[in-house]
Amino acid sequence: MLIDSYDRVVDYLRVSVTERCNFRCQYCMPEKPFSWVPKENLLSFEELFEFMKVAIDEGIKKIRITGGEPLLREDLDKFIKMIYDYEPSIDLAMTTNAFLLKGTAQRLKDAGLKRINVSIDTLIPSVAKEIAGKDVLKNVLEGVEEARRVGLKVKVNMVPMKTVNFDEIIEVLEYCKARDMSIRFIEYMENKFAKEGIAGVKSQELLAVLSQKYNFTDEGFDGSSPSHYYVMDDGYRFGIIEPYEDDFCKQCNRIRLTAEGHLIPCLYFDEAMSIAESVKRGDIKTAALVLKEVVRTKPEKNRWGGEDGEISSRAFYETGG
Ligand code: 5AD
Ligand code: SF4
Repeated sequence: MLIDSYDRVVDYLRVSVTERCNFRCQYCMPEKPFSWVPKENLLSFEELFEFMKVAIDEGIKKIRITGGEPLLREDLDKFIKMIYDYEPSIDLAMTTNAFLLKGTAQRLKDAGLKRINVSIDTLIPSVAKEIAGKDVLKNVLEGVEEARRVGLKVKVNMVPMKTVNFDEIIEVLEYCKARDMSIRFIEYMENKFAKEGIAGVKSQELLAVLSQKYNFTDEGFDGSSPSHYYVMDDGYRFGIIEPYEDDFCKQCNRIRLTAEGHLIPCLYFDEAMSIAESVKRGDIKTAALVLKEVVRTKPEKNRWGGEDGEISSRAFYETGG
């Protein structure tokens, strides 16, 4: 078992398979980065899988594939199948923008993928174009439908922003509710790659909007999910992710691996250790030591918010949010 110095069990690994993306979301990657990680620096699926085995053997129980946009990486289903075949009980999930899901959902499901998280920030095509930098809504919604049809569980993320999609909070929630998909509203997280001037929506404002239409009770945190949950009178549950809150990190159980093999103990810190050299050499022992060291050095909490709060200098497209 992997346990950090604050007695948190680390059993969740997020793996970014590429930092490339076919969207240019305002809050994440409004501009194409100056340079992408060179292809030769990316770990191959075989190399990544070597590390997945180490991680699973050490106690990782949940793996989420992220990006950038993970479906841009060819043969992703084969990577998923490698993990599934090694340990079918792993909770295997993926975060995707859904644009390419229509042609791939069945293969991913057959490979062993169980769940996906997708972003639906709006249901208006022109607003989706404004947010993602291209006309994406039709493909996204069709991708989501296809995923549901093949039996993948779908959770939706929405990042509410003033003057962009603030007036669609209820509509997007209703869209999800009608399809029995849970929705989580994510407070916009400032980062130096995002478009300038984005005005996020804090949970209090969000709750004020929602309470005009619904009755709900506060359920608090559920397990190690970063989301605060609320339950409506009819049983529908929605979540709010408030990374700036003081207790946000208390139940954190995750570490992250970038496509280049940097193992990151916390999204908000620059510290990372590389497993690239060791897996390339087939040196599993060193990879396991690095993993344990990264877990040991996991900080107690992020440094965002508060008096001396900082802005994240790490790109979300590198770490998969
Ligand atoms: N603030 C909040 N959420 C973000 N995401 C990406 N960048 C940000 C940000 N700056 C979320 C998207 C997507 C997930 C991958 O990360 O909503 O659902
Ligand atoms: Fe948008 Fe996700 Fe791509 Fe970032 S990684 S630009 S949030 S689709």
